Amino acid sequence: MTLIDPAVRTEFVDIVGSAHVLADPDLRATYEVDWTRRWTGTASVVVRPADTAELSGVLRVCHRHGLGCVAQGGRTGLVGGSVPRDGEVIVSLGRLGRLDHVGAVDGVGGQLIAGAGVTLAEVHRQALAAGWAFGVDLAARDNATTGGMVATNAGGMRVVRFGQMRSQVIGLEFVLADGTIISRLEGPAKDNAGYDLSQLMVGSEGTLGIVAAARLRLVRELPLRATAMIGLERLEQGIDIVGALRRSATSLEAAEVFDGPTMDVVAARLGSRPPMEGYPWFLIVECAGDEDPSPHMAEALADVSEGSGPEGSGPEGGGPTGDFGTDGYRSDSAVAVATDPAARRRLWAFRDQITESIAQLGVAHKLDPGVPLDRLPAFTEEVRHKVAELSASASVHIFGHLGEGNLHVNVLGLRDDDDRVDAAVLELVARLGGSIGSEHGMSKAKARWLSLARSPGEIAAMQAIKQALDPRGILNRGVIFPDPPGSES
Ligand code: FAD
Ligand code: MLT
Ligand code: ZN
Repeated sequence: MTLIDPAVRTEFVDIVGSAHVLADPDLRATYEVDWTRRWTGTASVVVRPADTAELSGVLRVCHRHGLGCVAQGGRTGLVGGSVPRDGEVIVSLGRLGRLDHVGAVDGVGGQLIAGAGVTLAEVHRQALAAGWAFGVDLAARDNATTGGMVATNAGGMRVVRFGQMRSQVIGLEFVLADGTIISRLEGPAKDNAGYDLSQLMVGSEGTLGIVAAARLRLVRELPLRATAMIGLERLEQGIDIVGALRRSATSLEAAEVFDGPTMDVVAARLGSRPPMEGYPWFLIVECAGDEDPSPHMAEALADVSEGSGPEGSGPEGGGPTGDFGTDGYRSDSAVAVATDPAARRRLWAFRDQITESIAQLGVAHKLDPGVPLDRLPAFTEEVRHKVAELSASASVHIFGHLGEGNLHVNVLGLRDDDDRVDAAVLELVARLGGSIGSEHGMSKAKARWLSLARSPGEIAAMQAIKQALDPRGILNRGVIFPDPPGSES
């Protein structure tokens, strides 16, 4: 069934061409569900602009007719932001991801321009080919797009060194709800002439405008790397290790943690034995430098991990000495270290495959809280307790970015619409002074809990900005802000 008014459809066709206005249910279907499979919606139409001018034209039509529309990148977002509410227009940015949407790398300034639909993997490829690197990395790299990552202020595994997407954005080209184009892709990177509207777009989850392209900062890749996996008896040990590495290692590039149940599901999916077994927590750290970072790493780990292994495990009580500089795993040790690329990749696979491995088991309730580091261990214990209290059949996986105190809580075995666990965890996070949306955004999944995270004054200021930039309220309805009581939820 076609849901779009034929006259409006013709207006879209005049802008993007008939091949890029998808009204047929079969053609729309893949755009109407996201990676999680938890979030779905029926669009009236999918429109695929090829450039900024077409995007502007599409938004002018939506604005004139008051049509709700949702920006869509790679649909890897985990909180329901890229799927439409019934009857909305999907504005898919995939065509702004062609190779001609990647500008040449500026070798002096260390930057490149990428269209909104350019994938993270492609940004990495282009940067590396020019002798640079990009500071953000996530397991969804093959599908997540530049526009989506800007809109969600994506984080990932290198935040501990390079910050989130916000830190990589020098300027954006974006289109406001009424079709106005704002372009900040050129000129000096250092520019304090008034409000930084590009940064306002970062993390706005498609509610203030649609990103067409981004001017991104590149970083220098440090040539020598060491990656370690450490079995932890207690999460506190991981926090100490991260602190010690921050102080002493040349450059701490990543500090990721996951719990025992998560290691079990990943190892089963990979079909490979982890380097060490039987620990409640596993930490992966990576350091880099112009010189081999292993010695610094060894010192930091030796200070904190001595005697950390389970009874009888590890060399002389679990310390890492002797493992450094060698590659491959030692299954009798609490620490495994890799310095050559293939061995490092084998260690990283246990982290990279977590989201996919959990998704194989079912549709998870996914939360991404951030909690002050000193309260993190207590938080994880209380989460497990609360989930067990609310549902005897639910299982919990906890993993994430230890450097920032950002742990993902994934709960399996709940009905999609059973939000009791989500509410309990988010209330706990708020009580501990944490962030209820540390990484993935608020989107539709968490909008109703916004007041746990922001004061009435902050929410009013945010709503004033939304009203000013999107006066008809057409962009990503139901994202960030909860629906008024009595309206659609
Ligand atoms: P989509 O999912 O299509 O959209 C996400 C949001 O951005 C929606 O609200 C959408 O409306 C909006 N949007 C999309 N494009 C635009 C645009 N051009 N202009 C304005 N708004 C737009 N996230 C992390 O932060 N860290 C991680 O480590 C991480 N790991 C992941 C691992 C896996 C396996 C998966 C599946 C996801 C992971 N994510 C992670 C989540 C996800 O990849 C990020 O949120 C990513 O930024 C989404 O990009 P996307 O192109 O898929 O956006
Ligand atoms: C991660 O850190 O792996 C991602 O944010 C994805 C997830 O939360 O599943
Ligand atoms: Zn994450």
